[in-house]
Amino acid sequence: VILTQDELKKIAAYKAVEFVESGMVLGLGTGSTACHAVARIGELLQQGKLKNIVGIPTSKKTHEQAVSVGIPLSDLDNYPVLDLAIDGADEVDPYLNLVKGRGGSLLREKMVEGACKKFVVIVDETKLVKHLGGSGLAMPVEIVPFCWKFTLERLRMMFVDAGCVAKLRRFSENGEPFVTDNGNYIIDLYFEKDIGDLKVASDEILRLAGVVEHGMFLDMATTLIVAGELGVTVKNK
Ligand code: A5P
Repeated sequence: VILTQDELKKIAAYKAVEFVESGMVLGLGTGSTACHAVARIGELLQQGKLKNIVGIPTSKKTHEQAVSVGIPLSDLDNYPVLDLAIDGADEVDPYLNLVKGRGGSLLREKMVEGACKKFVVIVDETKLVKHLGGSGLAMPVEIVPFCWKFTLERLRMMFVDAGCVAKLRRFSENGEPFVTDNGNYIIDLYFEKDIGDLKVASDEILRLAGVVEHGMFLDMATTLIVAGELGVTVKNK
């Protein structure tokens, strides 16, 4: 049997939910992989197999889904330390560094997942890369809307040696700028070449006034669950 990408995402998500225990405060990720985990947690709560879970959602969308499946919710103000977060990623390198934010939820994800004792990343095998930024997919940067063209150009120039193309993310339906849950815009960076040291790139992006956060999650994930045609593997950092 050949499994679809969505079936692989679901296998990884269900495996991650095995780490969830009653009484935990949980970071709930965003995206097409994480939503399987949220659904499964709701199911186990309803069956009475999990009890006293508090979920901290990483987006408005996940908030809505969690409410619909009956997960009690709170926030970082009330729970500054979380037991475990489960979330997908767009790219994962061999050191468990991630690119996230293709869905646009990177800021809240980074806040919540940075407050977790354990952060389990769930992906299908297509997300594995040697170097972040090397898949030809976007590296998202959340910026304030004020003079976004100025910030876009500064970001592009920052990575000009890597052949960077920078684009404002827009809704495909109407061409309007995509707006994040925090009222900000997203610049998607595409690289032709390796961007070099990730920590240096991260620091440089964050130093630019106008930038709120970027989608590189360096040294945050503690566990990686990969589902592929040959089965599911769990790797700890
Ligand atoms: C949301 O902004 C993202 O960080 C997602 O976690 C990431 O894009 C992975 O999404 P999928 O599980 O839908 O591939």
